[in-house]
Amino acid sequence: VKNYINIGLFGLGTVGKGVVNQLNDNGSLIKKRLGREIRITRAVTANPDKERGIDLKNIQISNKINDIINDPEIDIVVELIGGIDLAKSIILQSLKKGKSVVTANKALLAECAEEIFNAAYTSKGLFGYEASVAGGIPIIRNIRESYSGDKIMEISGIINGTANYILSSMSEKNETFLSALKEAQEKGFAEADPTFDIEGIDAAHKLILLMNLSFNAIFDFKSLYIEGIAQIEPIDIEIADDFGYVVKLLGKARDDDKGFEARVHPTLVNKNSILASVNGAFNAVQVMGNFVGETLSYGAGAGSYPTSSAVLGDLIQIGRALSSSDTSSPPPLSFQIEHLRKKQILPIDELETEYYLRFTVLDKVGVLASLTKSLGENNISIRCMIQKSKEHVPGLPVAVVILTHIAREKDIRAAINEIDKMPIVTSPTRLIRIDP
Ligand SMILES: NC(=O)c1ccc[n+]([C@@H]2O[C@H](COP(=O)([O-])OP(=O)(O)OC[C@H]3O[C@@H](n4cnc5c(N)ncnc54)[C@H](OP(=O)(O)O)[C@@H]3O)[C@@H](O)[C@H]2O)c1
Repeated sequence: VKNYINIGLFGLGTVGKGVVNQLNDNGSLIKKRLGREIRITRAVTANPDKERGIDLKNIQISNKINDIINDPEIDIVVELIGGIDLAKSIILQSLKKGKSVVTANKALLAECAEEIFNAAYTSKGLFGYEASVAGGIPIIRNIRESYSGDKIMEISGIINGTANYILSSMSEKNETFLSALKEAQEKGFAEADPTFDIEGIDAAHKLILLMNLSFNAIFDFKSLYIEGIAQIEPIDIEIADDFGYVVKLLGKARDDDKGFEARVHPTLVNKNSILASVNGAFNAVQVMGNFVGETLSYGAGAGSYPTSSAVLGDLIQIGRALSSSDTSSPPPLSFQIEHLRKKQILPIDELETEYYLRFTVLDKVGVLASLTKSLGENNISIRCMIQKSKEHVPGLPVAVVILTHIAREKDIRAAINEIDKMPIVTSPTRLIRIDP
């Protein structure tokens, strides 16, 4: 056995540089734990000559992917370039050659799960992707190994730090969505193109990955209901606060009698719940198993070092397996390969939960009666209601907010559709689901 493990690193961006720095700083500690040295021998990046301000000595850098893939001395390929096509090709080619692979690429793993995991299951190489969900929180290892004796009933969590940072600023500082986003970008908590984060797509990628691990199948990313946070207004945060809630972007999936329920959307979370106290760029994931009960993992969800720490954890785990005579590892998705089949997610119409409905209506006699009549006719029962207006100005619209008891999404949509056509309604009704 060689006394070192050779790494080929794709990408020297935020995470890639973190990996290099962490190995430079903790290399000798890691050697004590693994018994062998981990060394990056090659890196491939789009602009090999770019000045990066880190110590890259002993690393051969180029922009040719084959420099890593065709190097027989490289044991583990680390893919940190992101995106779909090139990353997929790098991972599939590396696994085909029997190399082990570590990646942080949640978009790829969620959208091409069947293809990637099939290759991971059938390759001689091992596969690590802890860094793809919730950065420094070892949630993949927890589900894949520690909870593998449990039937997982429910997973939910705050799994996008950028969205959580924005919503936290909106509620702490009374900011609008746009000014909170701008501040997040200035402080480096949101990328220049924050689309995936604010539209819920990044959280959805992670939720699908957690579902695949927890529910013994591959779930179709396209069938997941996704709603982002751009529509949340200060008035919603203020009224939610009056009712004892905070607004969080939650990803939630349940194994229900009827099927698998899963969704990513802004959610009103009770102020007394643990998730309500997860603020700023932090992440938290709750897992409920039929024997372990409720568990919660909390930590930094992204960023250079929390993510590189997850990459290093995978490298050491794979390094240990490669160093032992038993080179097996837990199955990539916890279950055996014959379960690598697609399963459906229930349509959002079938969801049953409580709702926050904010109607914008003219301040006129009989308005409330029209709203409640339509809700009643659609089987929706009202839990409480307030009207928000500074002073009574005839002809000016006011906000009427109704919280419902548990209702069906289909009925809620039918009622909103009806109500939004009424002449007393001046802007579309806002709906936020409540975590009951
Ligand atoms: N940033 C985070 O906090 C975080 C957290 C969890 C997971 N992730 C995931 O980690 C991955 C990397 O993210 P990142 O934030 O580190 O991205 P990044 O800062 O944009 O870095 C991407 C790197 O990939 C290189 N690259 C891009 N296109 C390439 C190409 N065609 N050929 C070769 N190299 C190419 C870039 O090269 P140059 O530098 O030479 O231009 C850059 O070094 C993504 O999958 C992301 O979703 C990131």
